[in-house]
Amino acid sequence: MPQTIGVPRETWPGEKRVATVPEVVQKLVKLGFRVAVESGAGDAANFSDDAYRAAGAEIINGAGALWNGSDIVFKVRGPSASEVNLLRTGGTLVSFIWPAQNPDLMQSLAAKKATVLAMDSVPRISRAQKLDALSSMANIGGYRAVIEAAHHFGRFFTGQITAAGKVPPAKVFVIGAGVAGLAAIGTAAGLGAIVRANDTRPEVADQIKSLGGEYIPVEYTEEGSGVGGYAKVMSEGFQKAQRAVFEQQAKDVDIIITTALIPGRPAPKLITAEMVRSMKPGSVIVDMAAEQGGNCELTEPGQVVVQHGVTIIGYADLPSRLAKQASTLYATNLFRLAEELCKTKDGVINVNMEDEVLRGTTVIKEGTVTWPPPAPKLSAAPPAAAKPAAMPAKAGGHGKPGAPASAKSTAIVFAVGVVVFCLIGVNSPPAFLTHLTVFALACFVGYMVVWNVTPALHTPLMSVTNAISSIIAIGALVQIAPPGDAARPEELIRWLAVAAIVLTSINMLGGFAVTQRMLAMFRK
Ligand code: NAI
Repeated sequence: MPQTIGVPRETWPGEKRVATVPEVVQKLVKLGFRVAVESGAGDAANFSDDAYRAAGAEIINGAGALWNGSDIVFKVRGPSASEVNLLRTGGTLVSFIWPAQNPDLMQSLAAKKATVLAMDSVPRISRAQKLDALSSMANIGGYRAVIEAAHHFGRFFTGQITAAGKVPPAKVFVIGAGVAGLAAIGTAAGLGAIVRANDTRPEVADQIKSLGGEYIPVEYTEEGSGVGGYAKVMSEGFQKAQRAVFEQQAKDVDIIITTALIPGRPAPKLITAEMVRSMKPGSVIVDMAAEQGGNCELTEPGQVVVQHGVTIIGYADLPSRLAKQASTLYATNLFRLAEELCKTKDGVINVNMEDEVLRGTTVIKEGTVTWPPPAPKLSAAPPAAAKPAAMPAKAGGHGKPGAPASAKSTAIVFAVGVVVFCLIGVNSPPAFLTHLTVFALACFVGYMVVWNVTPALHTPLMSVTNAISSIIAIGALVQIAPPGDAARPEELIRWLAVAAIVLTSINMLGGFAVTQRMLAMFRK
């Protein structure tokens, strides 16, 4: 019996997004689900009831009936207390939850014996990127931050030479180059501004450059990456050095966009009142961290204020201000999650806790709180710093450092390997030995190549190796000997070879095409 996915109208004041859009309704129906949408749910994002109906959804009047008739509820914001009451006992809810910040909400949902998947808890691993709603919303937020800044800024972003005079380009400084910061850098550079950016994680410098920005470093040696590739709280010394850099930038730039966040912590205060005072009148600050307390001392969350002639924007609803776009991307993230939940495509979900992505996203399973999940096996964190060189084996030796234990075991394995290889060589035909040598070398080279590739590039690597594996086409080509050739095999083998060539060609071309597309995502 297919389950019903219900999409209520968002009740949070000012929230314009909706958890599904007509285009995605069709896809959910293809997965076997029935879809019910509360009447008017898409109005603020410009999706009419008729559009949902045409896509195959049932339109339900009133939140009560919608929640009551839904096995699974898709929402954007976490539910209010009255919405928790409306949730069916034992029902499933998918929305943003922020479990660390909302323990009461977690308790009330657990009391309902609910299963809750939190879109803010999707593990940040390559496989889960397609359902990473945090990234899709941060991307929109970063773009909108620049548009808001441009709206409040009294000049062009791009430099111009006109008959009426020369216009210098605006200077934009972005603090924090995560997903939102990178989107802001790309948007501001696209509008023609001079863009600079800083982050505590120096590994983002190349990404900043590739989007048209300049990386502004803080000359202080300290690792900025914490757990899971996120930032960590920096030392006093670093903060002081960073303040000095920011003081300089504040005097020079026209617009500052701050996105600096540390998970589970209030936003670090990076722009002091003094820095605001030093900015040129008419400058703009967009504080994307406003909801977590703000990166600027003078930010008022949710408000636009003018302090010392500087406009400080503290909107906490930037993605909602691009409601149609945000709803479409969020709905697609939810659809991708639905695909993971319903591999059988029969409209019935299976919250498989053995699956790393579903395990991480599920914060309550049938009334039992399962948050926080175990740490994901692969993260975007940079590799740990190299260990110091092995200590000398013994003081007073021959002055030569002792070999580390692992080198000794490698030597033993190598020696055993050589002995085994010699034994096989003596007791087997020469052709076998040649094949074995090639096989062993191929294993060795393959291992060395794959082992040194960073986890972030594993997916493109897989597709390119897939394409390269089509080298077996050469074997098939050899089998299609021309008529009269002494080596011409029997007809059946030749036709099998033809089929192998056709299939491997698809594999080869497809593999390279997919690799190309994936690598293009890393380039601008
Ligand atoms: P975020 O929203 O938690 O933080 C924004 C940025 O602020 C981060 O780049 C952080 O390093 C920076 N920051 C924090 N404190 C700062 C300070 N005092 N001064 C300057 N900058 C500061 O970050 P977001 O956008 O959620 O991404 C965090 C990490 O997750 C990144 O490494 C990103 O590459 C990774 N990621 C991985 C994904 C995946 O593999 N599926 C998807 C999205 C992000």
